[in-house]
Amino acid sequence: MKEPRNRIVQVRRFGGPDALQVVDVPLPTAGPGEVRVRVLASGLEYTDVLIRRHLYPQTMRHRPPFVMGYDVVGEIDQLGNGVSGFQLGDRVADMTVVGSNVAYCTLRADRLTRVPAGIDPAEAATLILSWTTAYQLLHRAALVKQAQRVLVQGAAGAVGQALLVLGSLAGLELWGTARGAHAALIRDLGATPIDYQREDFTRVLPDGFDVVFDGIAQDGYRRSFAALKNGGLLCAYGYSAGVQAQRRMATMLVWIARLYLWRWLPGGKRARFYSINLMRAQHPAWFREDLERLFGLLATGAIRPRIAERISFDRVADAHRRIEAGGLDGKLVLCPELAP
Ligand SMILES: NC(=O)c1ccc[n+]([C@@H]2O[C@H](COP(=O)([O-])OP(=O)(O)OC[C@H]3O[C@@H](n4cnc5c(N)ncnc54)[C@H](OP(=O)(O)O)[C@@H]3O)[C@@H](O)[C@H]2O)c1
Repeated sequence: MKEPRNRIVQVRRFGGPDALQVVDVPLPTAGPGEVRVRVLASGLEYTDVLIRRHLYPQTMRHRPPFVMGYDVVGEIDQLGNGVSGFQLGDRVADMTVVGSNVAYCTLRADRLTRVPAGIDPAEAATLILSWTTAYQLLHRAALVKQAQRVLVQGAAGAVGQALLVLGSLAGLELWGTARGAHAALIRDLGATPIDYQREDFTRVLPDGFDVVFDGIAQDGYRRSFAALKNGGLLCAYGYSAGVQAQRRMATMLVWIARLYLWRWLPGGKRARFYSINLMRAQHPAWFREDLERLFGLLATGAIRPRIAERISFDRVADAHRRIEAGGLDGKLVLCPELAP
């Protein structure tokens, strides 16, 4: 019988989406302490753009060719030696940073989170990077309190939408910056829209916001900091505007470092940078606990992540182009079993 093959999305050189290539390779084998999963869904994210363009601190040491793919939901089809507590057929999830835009991959059993039966794998996949980031920004980094006034930059994006939904559940009063065409979406998600192309968010609240979440870094976070009330908190977590403007990595690292100097300015405002990888390294139990809580919310229908489209292998490069072009109103998710 013919040996089944694996299919992977690899980046051949750092740069644009044309550098992505879909290749057939032999199946991996689960080593000691590992499981092999048949991938059901794997997110395609703006962070993949950073990794592909070599602008992502956590993957600075990677050299092409390597396999793309930040997060994964899959079904265990092989158990390595020494793995206990899991069985063939169990549904599990992990955040791999790279390596999960594939048909099959091996994962360390001690890093897995169980995926409850009956939830859609693609919806579950959206929760791993984007929604866990949003949850931890709200409840681990900013420690938000009911009725606080909160501004979400990039509110129509993957993390932005999750911040609005989870922020509404936490009883926050929310505003979200987005392009004008996404105003109705922002309202549906429970926030007051601010058109980032036409309106000045620093003038919306005369006293300023309690908390601002910013994954965009337009102006190197300056105006987000200016929009805070005295004693307010800026939680920065990304720098998409710097990537779009083709800034160097060093410039964006200076923006991040500067956040920690601003706390010495008068007004008692604070600023910090959140990284999901750093928080997972420091508090691995929080990552699993928070993701399990989100899976629970999905299972009961309390949250419903928006998927713009499910993507087959042959359309991954096109999906990267769409993510970079902007204008999406939900996530793109690679579903390996979709026909081309
Ligand atoms: N630190 C962490 O742990 C962590 C975790 C996850 C993500 N991130 C980073 O966070 C950033 C956002 O991630 P994402 O997955 O949510 O990206 P995304 O889905 O691409 O969303 C970004 C959103 O920002 C909007 N936008 C662009 N320019 C804007 C501006 N000037 N003002 C307001 N909104 C603007 C885009 O709108 P248009 O469609 O109108 O362009 C888009 O809706 C990325 O840089 C990502 O790498 C960091």
